[in-house]
This record gives sequence, C-alpha cells and structure tokens, in this order.
Amino acid sequence: MGSTATREELEAGRGYEALFVPAIFEPWTKHLIDGAGVEESSHVLDIACGSGVLTRHAFARSGQSGRVVGVDPAPGMIAAANELEPNIEWILGSAEALPFDDATFDCVVSQFGMMFFQDRQKAAREMFRVMKPGRSLAIAVWNSIEHNRAYGDIIAVLDEQVSTAAGDALRMPYSLGDPDEVINTLSQGGFSDIEFETRAEQAKFPSSRTMVEAELRGWLPLFDINLSEEKIADVLVKSDGKLSKYAAQSGEAVFPTSAHIVTARKAQ
Ligand SMILES: C[S@@+](CC[C@H](N)C(=O)[O-])C[C@H]1O[C@@H](n2cnc3c(N)ncnc32)[C@H](O)[C@@H]1O
Repeated sequence: MGSTATREELEAGRGYEALFVPAIFEPWTKHLIDGAGVEESSHVLDIACGSGVLTRHAFARSGQSGRVVGVDPAPGMIAAANELEPNIEWILGSAEALPFDDATFDCVVSQFGMMFFQDRQKAAREMFRVMKPGRSLAIAVWNSIEHNRAYGDIIAVLDEQVSTAAGDALRMPYSLGDPDEVINTLSQGGFSDIEFETRAEQAKFPSSRTMVEAELRGWLPLFDINLSEEKIADVLVKSDGKLSKYAAQSGEAVFPTSAHIVTARKAQ
C-alpha cells in the first residue's frame, strides 16, 4: 500500500467514504464499469480512486481471476480504502506518474478526479501508456454548474455570505463541464474512438445541513478558507432557505446531478 496517513488524514478519508460516497459518488460506478468494459478476469486501474468505491465495484466484477488497482495521492483516502477492502492493491501515486509498465491494464477508469489533475495532458499520456492496445478507458466528470443546481445554490450563498474565493472553491469540481476539453485532452494523449454521454443520477444526503456543513468544514479549509463558528452558523441558516426545495419528507436532501461519461480506446 505504501501509505502513511496521519490520524487526521485517515479520519478525513473515512468521513468522505461515510458521507459523500453513498450520497453522490456510488451511483456513477456502474457507468464507468460498463463504459470501460470491465468483465471477469479484467486487469483494471482506477485512477483518483479516493476511498475506493469504483475500485471495489470493479473488483466485484473482475473477480478473483482479475487484478484491480486503485491509485490516489491522498494518504488518508488510500488508508480508508485499504481498511474497507485489503484484497485490492492500493497505491499512493498520481495520475501524472503512474507506477506501472506499459500495456499493463485491460481497463482504466477514473471518476470525478480529472478536474483535480495538475497536468491533465500528462495524465492522459500516462493512461494511454499503461493500457493494453485494443482496450478501453472510461472517465466521469461533472457537467457544468448550471446543470448541477443544488451545488449552484450553495455557491450562490457562499458568494454572498463568505467570498467569491469560497464560491470558486466549490465551482472547481465543475470546471470540466465542457466535454470537448476532456475529449481534446484524451485525443492528444493518443486515444481514439472517443465518445461521451451526459447522464443524470440522483444524489441523496442525510440533510442539506449535513451536506453544506461538510463543505464548510471539510472542503473550504483545503483552500485556506477557515470560517468562524459564527460564520458557519450564518451560512447554514442562509443555505437552509435556499436548499429547502430539495428536502424530502424524510428530511433528506434529494436532487439530480449531471455528469459526462467519456469513453475512449487505445487502437490495436
Ligand atoms: C472527488 S474525489 C473522487 C474519488 C473517487 N474516484 C470517488 O468516486 O469517490 C477526487 C480524488 O482525486 C484525487 N486526486 C487529486 N489529484 C490527483 C492526481 N493528480 N492524480 C490522481 N488523483 C488525484 C483526490 O485525492 C481525490 O481522492
């Protein structure tokens, strides 16, 4: 595994898995597994695996005769992933420098990580390099914020109540909403037969408060935006009003999300 996560990093990885994975990330895994053509015995690489939800689904599909590897640069994510499924290979590393020989994998998958890659072009070349010829890649990126209204609503509150920098921090995951950008990056990386499909899935958080508070306490500090308790309380009250339209009878926050599933091949 090669990860030495601090206690705090591990807690952050566990927290991500407990809240965000069931709420917004798990529903997308089936599209990636199908899009990359993962089947029994496949050798699969999941890049930006986080706490490993997609990797675990790939592992379930490829079975004992397959090989499944998850790569992520965050030690806490890798440690949380290893706790959940120690039978998968978890590797601390980045998309831009994949620690594998050429033509190692049948399928490469990556969901909701590409927007964070520092050098997407280099990452695309690396993905291409480690794939076997004739095999497929599947990537998920969020559609633009106009198509992900619930987060657009939170951003509006942050812009107004905190700062544009706070709003921008939450806009960042939606920065690859133009599928042409991903298509061009993959094409320059060597891939062919590049296609995309825009899909919708339902997100379901325990409550809108839980969702917003996790962003305020977990995401904004990564951008050096640390809010006082008073400010947090203020933003939560304002966002209650804005997000009440997503409240189900159960109190859960339920809303549609939109993402592009991009698939590509490495020619024979
Ligand atoms: C939103 S999470 C998605 C995680 C996972 N794919 C999922 O569906 O739950 C984005 C992940 O991208 C990872 N990441 C950021 N920069 C990266 C890079 N340069 N190479 C690979 N992964 C990266 C982060 O550490 C984080 O785990």
